[in-house]
Order: sequence, then C-alpha cells, then structure tokens
Amino acid sequence: MVNLETTFAGLRLKNPLVAASSGLTNSVKKIKELENAGIGAIVLKSLFEEQIENHSEKLSQIADYPEAADYINTYIEMNHMEKYLDLIRSAKKECDIPIVASINCYKLSRWVEFAKTIQDAGADAIELNLFVLNAGELGDTYLEDSYVNIVRELRKIIRIPVVIKMAKNISNLPGLVGKLKALGAGGVVLFNRFYQLDIDIKNLEITSGPVFSNPSDFSDTLRWTAIVSGRVPDFDIACSYGVHSWEDSVKGILAGAGAIQLCSLLYEQGLDVIEDTLMCMEEWMLQSNYERIDDFKGKLNYGNIKDSALYERVQFMKYFSSYK
Ligand SMILES: Cc1cc2nc3c(=O)[nH]c(=O)nc-3n(C[C@H](O)[C@H](O)[C@H](O)COP(=O)(O)O)c2cc1C
Repeated sequence: MVNLETTFAGLRLKNPLVAASSGLTNSVKKIKELENAGIGAIVLKSLFEEQIENHSEKLSQIADYPEAADYINTYIEMNHMEKYLDLIRSAKKECDIPIVASINCYKLSRWVEFAKTIQDAGADAIELNLFVLNAGELGDTYLEDSYVNIVRELRKIIRIPVVIKMAKNISNLPGLVGKLKALGAGGVVLFNRFYQLDIDIKNLEITSGPVFSNPSDFSDTLRWTAIVSGRVPDFDIACSYGVHSWEDSVKGILAGAGAIQLCSLLYEQGLDVIEDTLMCMEEWMLQSNYERIDDFKGKLNYGNIKDSALYERVQFMKYFSSYK
C-alpha cells in the first residue's frame, strides 16, 4: 500500500496534484468538481490589481482566443475584492482540501492590503502571481527586488504561508529563491506561464499565441526544479508549466518538488486525468518499492546526483553531434 500524502508550504495534501490558478478554479462549483475528481489542493483564479485592467484592456484587443481574453481581461473586470472573498469563504466551507488564494498586484501597499483581507477570509495560503516585464525602462534588478520587497512586507503581517509563483526569466533563480526562503516564504512554484503573443504575417498584426503549454515546456521546469531543490534544501517547491502526463508528475517529484500544479492538462483532458494520474503514480511507486512521496522526493535533484553538471548542460554540440 502506498501513501501519496505530501506537504507543501506547511499544508498537508492528500496527494501532490494541485489545480493551478486558472479559469478552472474561479467558482465553487468548479472547485468542488476538482475536489471530487481527487485533486489534492486548489489555487484559486488570481485576484488582479486594478492597474492590470488598464494593461489588459489594451492586450485583450489583440487576443482572439476566448480563454486568453479571459486570462487577461474578463475575469479581471468581474473580479472585485468582495466577490473574491466570497469565493474563498464558500470554497473553505464546501471543500476539505487546502484552498490557496492567488493575488496579482503591482503596488506594494496593495499586495499587503489584499493579502491581509484574504487571510482573514480563511485562505490556507497565498500564492503571489507577480511579474513585471522589463522592456528596458526598469532597472536591472527591478523584478528580483520586487519579489524580495513584497515577501518581506507580507511576512510582517501574514501568518498563513506565502508562496511565490516565479517567472522563468530570473538571472539567478537559486539565489533569489534562497533569499525568499530566508525572508520566510513558504515555498515557490516553478514556473508561471504568461500570456503568449504571436505575429500574424498576413495582416501584420500582433495576435495571441497558444494559451496552453505543451509537453516540451516541461524540460526547463524539471531542470530548474532539480537545481533549486539542490541549491536551496528544505524549501518547498511546486512544479508547474508543462506537466502533461503522470510520468511528468513522477519526474517533478524525483527532481525535488513536493507538489505538482496542473493546468493545461486539465483543460485538454478533463478532470478524469486526475484519478488516472494518481493511479499510475501509485502503480509506479509500488513497482519501485516506494511507500511514500518522501521516499523519492528530490532523489535526482542537483545535490543528490553524482554528476550535477548534467543539469547545467545547455549546449547541443556533444549530444546532437549525429545531427549533421
Ligand atoms: C486560461 C488560463 C488562465 C490562467 N489564469 C491564471 C491566473 O489567474 N493566475 C495565475 O497565476 N496563473 C494563471 N494561469 C497560468 C497557470 O496557472 C499555469 O501556471 C500555466 O498554465 C502553466 O501550467 P501548465 O503548463 O500546466 O498549463 C492561467 C493559465 C491559463 C491557460
């Protein structure tokens, strides 16, 4: 008999699968369905700061996929604070699994204000969905400083775990995660996936790119999960971005994640994939003689494999030399 229980950011999860913040987690009905389907925890759709509304208005004009528009605009408009707090309260009342709220803000004072109210509404943790695109006009360390300052301020007044959903383009990811840990963050999610754009070469217009990730996106997630897990020991990581199979979930845990966030997979395959994934993970654990998640969590992380340089290989020259 295997046990899929795990912990993430101080929360006990009956299994490592977490529904990532998206349109699938924006109502109690959907959240309840996810719980019934076997999910271990839920991250609610983000509550966006007003400022994004302005950004999103511009962006939504070029988004031709309904979910993309939803991602950047529709929900933002509807999602006023009171409604969000109601969602937290109702989700907590209806569900037994951990409910993580998600906030997206730009101004430090707003983050603190939002987080406090969300804590009071009963959320089990807060996930910070933070990213500012630096198109050249912000300082070199603007993004990194924002993560640090926000976590520092939040930890002064927030008791519940604060989880940071990281952007990919951080110059020294393990260094920054180490700082966030030292400041009292509860864990990190590697990574967030942002709105993707494209260029329409017929009409010479900017359009929206793919809304969902694809399996090849997972390699980067795996690499950084393993490196951060090895470099920043005893700190909770949730794998996200590109998880498209039960094998990916097992790989994420081997790389050091304690939880696995699912989004595109749930959209594309429906909620039955949760039970299938859990069954396959259990079967794999049985066959590999692992009784608990902790028995193999991080077994192949950067600190635990013999040749950690394997995670640092980025050039093709040796490995694809057969491709002339
Ligand atoms: C339609 C849609 C809506 C999303 N909304 C949010 C959101 O409100 N907040 C957030 O932090 N991430 C949001 N995301 C990003 C997902 O939570 C997730 O990080 C991303 O899709 C990568 O995971 P995946 O490869 O499993 O899809 C959204 C993604 C999609 C596809």
